[in-house]
Amino acid sequence: MTPFAFLTGLFFLAAAVLFVIGLHQMRTPRTARRGNLLSAGGMVTAVGGTLLYAIVSSNSNPFGWVALVAGVVIGGTFGVIRSRSVKMTDIPQLVSLFNAVGGGAAAAVAFADFLSRDLTGGLTPSVSVPVVLDIVIGSVSLSGSLIAAGKLQGLIPGQPIQFPGARIVNVIVVVIVVSAGALTVLQPTSWPLLLVVLVAALLFGILMVLPIGGADAPVVVSLLNALTGLAVAMAGFVIDNQAMIIAGALVGAAGTILTLQMAKAMNRSVLTIMLGGFGTGDSTAATTGASATSNVREVTADDVGLQLAYARHVIIVPGYGLAASQAQHEVAELAKLLTDHGIDVKYAIHPVAGRMPGHMNVLLAEANVPYSQMLQLDEANPAFDTCDVALVVGANDVTNPAARRTGNAVSGMPILDVDHAKSVVVIKRSMSPGYAGIPNELFSLPQTGMLFDDAKKALGDITVAVKQYVTT
Ligand code: TAP
Repeated sequence: MTPFAFLTGLFFLAAAVLFVIGLHQMRTPRTARRGNLLSAGGMVTAVGGTLLYAIVSSNSNPFGWVALVAGVVIGGTFGVIRSRSVKMTDIPQLVSLFNAVGGGAAAAVAFADFLSRDLTGGLTPSVSVPVVLDIVIGSVSLSGSLIAAGKLQGLIPGQPIQFPGARIVNVIVVVIVVSAGALTVLQPTSWPLLLVVLVAALLFGILMVLPIGGADAPVVVSLLNALTGLAVAMAGFVIDNQAMIIAGALVGAAGTILTLQMAKAMNRSVLTIMLGGFGTGDSTAATTGASATSNVREVTADDVGLQLAYARHVIIVPGYGLAASQAQHEVAELAKLLTDHGIDVKYAIHPVAGRMPGHMNVLLAEANVPYSQMLQLDEANPAFDTCDVALVVGANDVTNPAARRTGNAVSGMPILDVDHAKSVVVIKRSMSPGYAGIPNELFSLPQTGMLFDDAKKALGDITVAVKQYVTT
């Protein structure tokens, strides 16, 4: 081993250590920021090692350097600008786009490597198998993540998109991917067959994500993230790069665990979500919901202030609307005011509230809400039975009692039992549905009052009203 190869190996080892420690620190909000920085440091170290390798490698050519510098400048500039300007509520779309480019880059690496090889004597399976797997997984991740990002951004309808004969088309596409892939592994003699694998896998990614909608998007985004990790690990095998193997395996493993946990939180199996069927809804559920939400009771901030001032147990249910309105500081201020006056205040956090895993925890941590006040789903639900006021702030799907019935977009999803509280106040701007696109029957229950306003403004007004009642 040359001294340079040894040094490059040391860079990759240091990067791997930083990835592992960084990932470990991301397990709690307290250390997550440091974990993120450490992982980014790991990536810089890995890029440094790769540059060192490129400098000393006899294979490096001028075109390679131009491509490398252009990639770093274009990719780096886009990454920095977009990450700095993105709104917190748009992060899932950005993550999906990052998944897409990660998967696409991994597939491109394998394809380029295949083209650069002398195929006259064929390839050993240790090369051809990772090449094919990388191209399949990376392409599925690329096209699937682009569709998921389009759905999250609202560019593509979030509802399931299905067409007659979709299942048959899916089967045909899978057969093409598998047979063309197997032929490439057995007789890797030409690139057009590999191109067939790539195009069919891209098509499969699109077909896989289009019918998924309703409340299942979080699981799919997480699964695509895991696939990107696997594709990168495969690309590492293809070009014999340890840093890519380790980083890809970590992303693949972490993404798989997250996918399984989210599927469990949604009370569904990953396979069921992939096969579609949820989120399709039915007309009965829609009609029930529509008639159920036709007679709602509207309340004012003053009414809510009075109710809260005389309550003993209050549970705040944050949802996507709290994030969209950036009302975390206002909700924390209101909670502190109530707590200071001896009222017991808790927050009920649903695992898929908002638009990304841990969205509500991050948001509330930003406003210094004590962790002891945050109840997870299992702890929160029994507490609603003795709760005087459940204050729902921009949450919708995660409180929808329709989840307890079959045949609609949220069927089977565990919900926060807000309707068990003595009184419910829902802050939102209109009667629009949530992400799943179905009406919420909670809004027309006799104990529910609707405060139609932007969350930030409504919470500010309620705080003013509470002050008026607790000081007199
Ligand atoms: P949603 O069901 O999406 O409902 C959010 C509600 O917030 C909307 O009904 C909206 O009503 C209201 N809202 C929007 N802006 C507001 C503002 N400025 N002020 C006040 N209210 C506002 O939210 P949820 O209950 O948190 O459920 C999350 C949903 O997203 C689930 O279906 C989940 O599966 C899905 N999802 C989750 C994730 C992850 S990982 N968490 C990722 C993707 C999708 P108005 O327009 O009437 O105000």
